[in-house]
Amino acid sequence: MSQFNKRITLAITGASGAPYALRLMECLVAANVQIYLLISSAAERVFEIEESLNFPSEASARQAFFTERYAAQSNQIICSDKLDWLSPVASGSNAPDAMVICPCSGGTLSAIACGASNNLIERGADVMVKERKPLIIVPREMPLSPIHLENMLKLSQIGVTIMPASPGFYNKPQSINDLVDFVVARILDHLKIKQSLMPKWGE
Ligand SMILES: Cc1cc2nc3c(=O)[nH]c(=O)nc-3n(C[C@H](O)[C@H](O)[C@H](O)COP(=O)(O)O)c2cc1C
Repeated sequence: MSQFNKRITLAITGASGAPYALRLMECLVAANVQIYLLISSAAERVFEIEESLNFPSEASARQAFFTERYAAQSNQIICSDKLDWLSPVASGSNAPDAMVICPCSGGTLSAIACGASNNLIERGADVMVKERKPLIIVPREMPLSPIHLENMLKLSQIGVTIMPASPGFYNKPQSINDLVDFVVARILDHLKIKQSLMPKWGE
């Protein structure tokens, strides 16, 4: 019996939206989820620019960094190198319960839509699709090209949940954190993780 409630892959790619990824990671830790954390090289650049955050590139050092940052339990956040094909993420036989790609670049979106599997993020997504497990993609681009739209439609039609990072304003957000929480709350809802970041509609 695992000490964690769920196992979820959190992949972070090089689209704008580092605050969404950090808040989601914080909420997953608080929900006692074991996180397989995959961060692309482009996402590292985005973190530097958007959050002035530099973290180690090497997997075990990165794991220690995020474990300390979120006061996570030992082995609650597991980091892997991008070509670590021995990670549980890479195989249907031991795949996590769900995967979220937040934010998702147009590049990674297209690689998943054609089944490229050239790195652990793409392979992890491919495994979710083939195993028919929940895959949530949070794309961020503006405007969207016909290529982006076609890729999203293709994935949506095979059961992938496409949740663009587009917060609503009907809750009267007072801060950037409120806008971030709007998106993260909807992702947690779809992961079936109880959240109190945002009141439910009508309550
Ligand atoms: C600061 C910054 C912001 C970016 N924003 C986006 C974006 O919002 N959407 C997107 O698709 N690509 C964006 N890019 C470009 C991607 O990072 C680039 O296409 C990269 O190859 C994606 O690689 P990855 O999918 O492996 O992370 C951005 C790049 C930088 C440096």
